[in-house]
Amino acid sequence: MDIARTPSTPPGNPQMADAAREPKAPPIIYRKDYKPYPWLLPSVRLEFDLALERTRVVNTMEVRRNPAGEATPVLRLDGDNLEPLEVRIDGEATQSWTMDGPALLVTVPGDEHSVSIVTEFDPSANTVLMGLYASNGMLCTQCEAEGFRRITFFPDRPDVLSTYTVRMEAEKESFPVLLSNGNRTDAGDLTDGRHYAEWHDPWPKPSYLFALVVGDLVANSDSFTTMSGREVALNIYVRDGDLERTHHAMSSLKASMKWDEEAFGREYDLDLFNIVAVSDFNMGAMENKGLNVFNTKYVLADPETATDGDFDGVEGVIAHEYFHNWSGNRVTCRDWFQLSLKEGFTVLRDQLFSQDMQGEAVKRIEDVRVLRGAQFPEDSGPLAHPIRPDSYREISNFYTATIYNKGAEVIRMMRTMAGPQAFRKGCDLYFERHDGEAATCEDFVKAMEDGAGLDLTQFRRWYEQAGTPTVTVRLDHSGDEATLSLRQDVPPTPGQPAKHPMPIPLRIALFDRDEGTHQGEQLVMLTENEKTITFDGFAKKPVLSINRNFSAPVIIERKTPRDKLVFLAARDDDPFARSEAMQDLVVGHLLDDVSEKLTDSERDGVRADIAQAYAAVIADEALDDQMRGELMLLPTQTYLMEKMRIADPGRIFAAREGLKAYLGKELQEQFHRLYERVEQVLFSLDREAKGARKVKNLILTFAAASDPSKASELAAHQYNRADNMTDRQGALMVLAGLDGVERTNALIDFYNRYEDNPLVIDKWFSLQAISLHPNAIEHVKALAAHKDFTLRNPNRVRALYGSFTGNPHAFHAESGEGYRLIADCILALDPLNPQIAARFVPALGRWRKMEPKRAKMMRKELERISEADALSRDTFEQVTRSLV
Ligand code: PHE
Ligand code: ZN
Repeated sequence: MDIARTPSTPPGNPQMADAAREPKAPPIIYRKDYKPYPWLLPSVRLEFDLALERTRVVNTMEVRRNPAGEATPVLRLDGDNLEPLEVRIDGEATQSWTMDGPALLVTVPGDEHSVSIVTEFDPSANTVLMGLYASNGMLCTQCEAEGFRRITFFPDRPDVLSTYTVRMEAEKESFPVLLSNGNRTDAGDLTDGRHYAEWHDPWPKPSYLFALVVGDLVANSDSFTTMSGREVALNIYVRDGDLERTHHAMSSLKASMKWDEEAFGREYDLDLFNIVAVSDFNMGAMENKGLNVFNTKYVLADPETATDGDFDGVEGVIAHEYFHNWSGNRVTCRDWFQLSLKEGFTVLRDQLFSQDMQGEAVKRIEDVRVLRGAQFPEDSGPLAHPIRPDSYREISNFYTATIYNKGAEVIRMMRTMAGPQAFRKGCDLYFERHDGEAATCEDFVKAMEDGAGLDLTQFRRWYEQAGTPTVTVRLDHSGDEATLSLRQDVPPTPGQPAKHPMPIPLRIALFDRDEGTHQGEQLVMLTENEKTITFDGFAKKPVLSINRNFSAPVIIERKTPRDKLVFLAARDDDPFARSEAMQDLVVGHLLDDVSEKLTDSERDGVRADIAQAYAAVIADEALDDQMRGELMLLPTQTYLMEKMRIADPGRIFAAREGLKAYLGKELQEQFHRLYERVEQVLFSLDREAKGARKVKNLILTFAAASDPSKASELAAHQYNRADNMTDRQGALMVLAGLDGVERTNALIDFYNRYEDNPLVIDKWFSLQAISLHPNAIEHVKALAAHKDFTLRNPNRVRALYGSFTGNPHAFHAESGEGYRLIADCILALDPLNPQIAARFVPALGRWRKMEPKRAKMMRKELERISEADALSRDTFEQVTRSLV
């Protein structure tokens, strides 16, 4: 972070700003350069004197020479935007220190000392939302990855583990609640309306897991009894007035605790587990030991204000953070190159949990959709990186879909190869071996080899190589033999021009077309560039179902005749493969349509097949509505762009809307009857009712394309009689894309109804920014000037600009205006919150994928950003990589 532009420069040291100014090109940090820290810090005591505008920290570290590290008298302590007001060694004030850029170097005489440092800063001026900052009247911290160094000087790296004792002192009236990690060991009143609390965390942890929250908060309190019979007190802290919306979070927490015991044998290890919801937060949530800090978006939910998707989001993120207590906290990361060690594994764990809670099939399909929507584009673009990167300039840029979601897929493949029981043994061994340590991805792989009995020698390439492999598939038939030919290609990615073959586990089944059955699923390992496998006993050519349940994160390339896809879409017994067949059917057609390959009669023929497949899905009584909804979802524009070498967003939009209109018209009767049925289902949060709402909202989108005025009427009706946010938002989304008085009325009503609820007002911004309305850009510009819009709240920024970049027809407007808008947003945001600013760069970074006119305009905007002076490290890195 560029200190010169940060308004939190400490008092009384103006030269600091110049000394610590980042050079134009921040240094590159390499994984191969890892060295252990020369000192051990067994314990730390932090004393905070807290106030919104001025907070003082006394940090006392017990330091001891690390026998495994280099012998040096110098203690290098990371700092960011800090100056040391006082340095003491063994209690004595000392001048034995110097600054090296933002870092503090203290020279100590011996092998074991106590070193204390005093720092001071202004939390209210902290807009970066890293370190200690003010949000909504409270003070809270965010330390991952490198925020702790904004609080005090410290070896701010994940392999330095200490036990923390924290004393907090603050004014009692504004900050009645004082929280930190671990257990509260002391508390009391002081003079002048002040009070204090002392907390101790018995588990050694790295600085990134430190947390503190003080504020005027109320708690939803409950308890959980662990498998060994210990009682754990649970609290979810929120602002007064939000308490009623914490019940779902609490039940999700208890379900997560139970599930981790049953599925992974992991028990909670403190007597207290606290969650705090804050409204200004860069990410979803943070797994600080015993004190998780959450974005309000992933805590607060009730039917009136949260959609079914929001409820699932709360459940998933609560689980994710809770699961980190073992995969992340008890076993942490040696360095940030190992980030996927905790994130990939924890995502897999939360996915498996949600599968058990919500139903396996639909959750798997959703997770694959997320991977394809976010990670595949990353993996095929300029920011592609392996799940264990080799270098970075700014680690915040590596909290990516690759590290998280592809990381989860890689571990899931190990589970597929080993089977669930052996996989569990590998996990047990990993936790047993590395408990209390800062581990590496290699440690995980080794434990999995030893515990699960797998040979993962070649599999390690999944950690080394970026890029999504393509597997080209052909099935031939002669006599009674079916021959499957597979070929893999791993594309070149930045810094990795040539690739080695990866081991790719593919679940397959061969269907007898007439019977509609198969002889059992098999796992085929493609380990070389090419492989041919012969199956006998097939008098007729079977129908191949491949990559079932998405057993490998690859792109399957094959020419499947349409009638076979229609067959699989109706008959495949693997729900993922079934939805895949449906998608392939539609994607194949839309790509043909976009490339103008089709005559009118050909187009009609394919569309009729698709309509027939849809009709079968609508009529299939064996399907529940959640799955029915999955099968009815059209591929996203982003996914279609990804499937093309060079994408033309305008044509993709037109082709997709054309198909929607066709289906809406052709299936009008079926949709109508289905809508009438699901409309009768009363509100509840069970699967059936959620499925009904999903289908209801989908039908509205088809109607909007085929018969806008009818759709307006239907959506307005749904909006007005809605008794829950899923129905209301679904209706408003459709209305926001149409013209007319219904649109205006609903948008006004929605705003007035929820004016006091920031999370719902986020939806109001978002719905307009992602709408299919032809003037969406104009709407976004107007909303940026709305009194409720602010660049200082990440949720609001994401609601407006994040939604906008996810709206291809608007973002990729032919005029280039969408690109300009986002570049302006990045430039305005960068000085305030570089992490959030940098997250918008990838949208422009996709220029190579676009038709030449748009590509040129996107590049131009990237260049404009790169020319701005004093760019943050975050934005600098992303822009530079995107321009290469
Ligand atoms: N570690 C958090 C998670 O995945 C994400 C996070 C990263 C939050 C960095 C804040 C800052 O659960
Ligand atoms: Zn995580």
